Amino acid sequence: MEFCFADRTANMNGTATREIFKLLSRPEIISFAGGLPATEALPVKELKEICGELLSASDAYKLLQYGTTEGYPPLADAVIQTVKEFGVCAERENVLVISGGQQGIDLMCKSFLNAGDTVLVENPTYLAALQIFNSYEAKAVGIRADAYGIDVADLEAKIKLHKPKFVYLVPTFSNPTGKTYSEKNRKEIAFVTAKYGIPVLEDDPYARLRFSGEKVNALYSFAQSDNVVYLASFSKILSPGLRVGGAVGNPDIIRKMAICKQGTDLHTSLLAQAIAAEYCRRGLLKRSVEDSLPLYASRKKAMMRGIEKYMPSEFVHTNPEGGLFVWGEFDGCDINTAELLHRAVERNVAYIQGSVFYADGSGKNTIRLNFSNASEEKIDEGMKALGEFFKEEISRAKN
Ligand SMILES: Cc1ncc(COP(=O)(O)O)c(C=O)c1O
Repeated sequence: MEFCFADRTANMNGTATREIFKLLSRPEIISFAGGLPATEALPVKELKEICGELLSASDAYKLLQYGTTEGYPPLADAVIQTVKEFGVCAERENVLVISGGQQGIDLMCKSFLNAGDTVLVENPTYLAALQIFNSYEAKAVGIRADAYGIDVADLEAKIKLHKPKFVYLVPTFSNPTGKTYSEKNRKEIAFVTAKYGIPVLEDDPYARLRFSGEKVNALYSFAQSDNVVYLASFSKILSPGLRVGGAVGNPDIIRKMAICKQGTDLHTSLLAQAIAAEYCRRGLLKRSVEDSLPLYASRKKAMMRGIEKYMPSEFVHTNPEGGLFVWGEFDGCDINTAELLHRAVERNVAYIQGSVFYADGSGKNTIRLNFSNASEEKIDEGMKALGEFFKEEISRAKN
């Protein structure tokens, strides 16, 4: 039977994401393609204990009932405490518990976007956000960026030209680049977007995964009006499988997002919220994040060593102070990393082609590498395979 799907689904393209998950499931592949937190950082023992205790309580049934859309109050309080660390001040009316940061992006779109609207994004940006904008029939327009953040002159010019509904940014340990905007850049973005009354969606799942350098406060903390919505997530610091996060912002926006959330999932799983809240209440979040940072730092260093040892000299790359990703470009090389991916996989190593992170599909000679989910030995082995592969491809392209 031929199904008559909605027109807006015609341009939805999940191919790249599907490809990533297929690759991850083959055991012989050393995959730098995903974005998973380290298996060792997932607190199985602690959550088993917490689940047992929560479900042994005499009123445990309440956690198996329906709950309010706004969220389980102890978890909303835990979100308020967590975001304070980055200068984000919030009361309960500013908080909506969400089923992961991904839902926050979706609800922001559901609340603001009409078909044909424009969203400004950093070029490159989070692939799945681009897919969500696409699903709302909105157009993503890229803003130029450098090592310190986005080009604010370009941002202002594109605000004037495109009159965007909002600006979407990942200012700390960005996915895909691993880059962090400077404080100066955050202040300038806050100033320009307030000047034109443009909302900003600050997506911040990685800020707590800092293993070196100085903390930078959230863009939200520098906001000159109430135009910034901040997304926090427990996925990378506790467990992505729990699907718990928080959106923080102006109460009018938060209320609108809550109404939109009702149609999506009524509320985030109460049991998952209670588990996350109890994990925080016991002080385990701070401890487990601190414990996981040396692991991430040493894996990032292993990747840097692998790049120095094996990658071609044309490979120009970031050296992040946190997060999960390294980003690189084969400077001046006429290669297409999307076309080459299947051949790399034949050598049992995977990366993500950088072009999928560009609003305009450019970045043909770029790649994203994830360092969090493989041992140091595997990182060395994988980078050796990848380095040899790209050296061959680059010399082929030159001849
Ligand atoms: C920038 C960014 N935003 C949102 C998400 C979605 O995360 P969550 O599990 O919180 O929905 C990810 C996941 O990789 C991400 O990298």
